Amino acid sequence: MDNFQFYSPTEFVFGKETENESGRLVKKYGGSKVLIHYGGGSAVKSGLLDRVKASLEKEGIGYVLLGGVKPNPRDTKIYEGIELCRKENVDFILCVGGGSVIDSAKGIAIGVLYDGDFWDFYGTGKKVERALPIGTVLTIAAAGSEGSPGSVVTKEEGMLKRDVGSDLLRPKFSILNPELTETLPAYQTACGATDIMAHVFERYFTNTEEVEISDRLCEAVLMTMIKETPRAIADPHNYQARANIMWAGTVAHNDIVGVGRSQDWNSHGIEHELSGLYDCAHGAGLAVIMPSWMEFVYKHNIMRFAQMAVRIWGCPMNFENPEETALKGIACFRRFLHDIGMPINFEELGAKEEDIPVLVEKFGLGDGKTGGFVPLSSDDVAEIYRIAVKASI
Ligand code: NZQ
Ligand code: ZN
Repeated sequence: MDNFQFYSPTEFVFGKETENESGRLVKKYGGSKVLIHYGGGSAVKSGLLDRVKASLEKEGIGYVLLGGVKPNPRDTKIYEGIELCRKENVDFILCVGGGSVIDSAKGIAIGVLYDGDFWDFYGTGKKVERALPIGTVLTIAAAGSEGSPGSVVTKEEGMLKRDVGSDLLRPKFSILNPELTETLPAYQTACGATDIMAHVFERYFTNTEEVEISDRLCEAVLMTMIKETPRAIADPHNYQARANIMWAGTVAHNDIVGVGRSQDWNSHGIEHELSGLYDCAHGAGLAVIMPSWMEFVYKHNIMRFAQMAVRIWGCPMNFENPEETALKGIACFRRFLHDIGMPINFEELGAKEEDIPVLVEKFGLGDGKTGGFVPLSSDDVAEIYRIAVKASI
């Protein structure tokens, strides 16, 4: 196991009706004028926004509203938010929604206290020095942004999707009420589940040896998702399935399952070009890319893929031919994604083979390589897209 520091300062408040704690928590973390940031309307329709407003009012906390965040959040909404926060002297951002709303809020949080363009930090490695505090009321288990240091934003001009990471962007608190996810359509539930599983696999495929504790934690999260996702899809009001998925989504990405080991993250980078170009859901893009990436890299460590097959998918180990076991594990993953309603190839996603050169160009590797498990070149990335074009079950 490698040396590590684990920092997850967010206060997680989990359970039924916890959105009514919003006001108390904003006050606890020093907010006196709040921007309530939300998405395209699901939180209005469900009455959640009204409950959050009432909770702030009960504590005597003033607020302004900014809705309309789109999935794959855009820079344009962030500029609007920065201007509003400055005009209204906002000192705390409360997100009501999913990863897109939270990531948009993180962009605003950076921009309000920065003299230049908030975009300077995205995809550049420039260090965030200051950010407004944020809190979240999560409505979809997926991106893990409620506990992560990351924000992923799309620049509308050129549809360029880029990210930034800073501990300053970790929410002060996140309210996780599984009941709020019961209104999710099956497709969004499945997209979220795919993202959660991908966050674990990005960490599971490591070159670090002797990491039994984090291997087993990864496997626990993945097996929970395999059990609970079909239950939540079959019965959207299954609270216990929703609860298990919700906590899985947070622990999949606050890094508790990834410490002390090298990680990969190439599937995410390769996917972000798809959701950037086609504006598809991030989870759907991952369903197309991640098993294809696995097929491309599995020979690097056949026994690790065989371990996935045996421990996670319950495949029998073929000691004579471990490669067969490894490939069966990848096939099980793709079959699972198909069964929960995810696209598994370019056509099903709405992507086009002829766009592969554009996707590779936007990925921006040039002559370099990237990634932790197997470093990839531009040609390798193109090959993974080509595998994804033809993928079938
Ligand atoms: O906008 P509304 O009306 O709320 O509808 C949303 C949206 O259409 C809907 N939804 C959310 N909660 C709902 C609901 N519909 C009914 N009932 C509810 N309770 O679901 C749709 C998707 O929402 P979105 O926030 O986009 O989903 P998600 O949480 O998957 O976020 C995706 C974004 O997060 C980024 C992705 O790239 C993508 O841009 N990621 C962020 C990460 C991070 N910050 O750490 C890491 C991830 O790997 C990921 O890249
Ligand atoms: Zn993700």
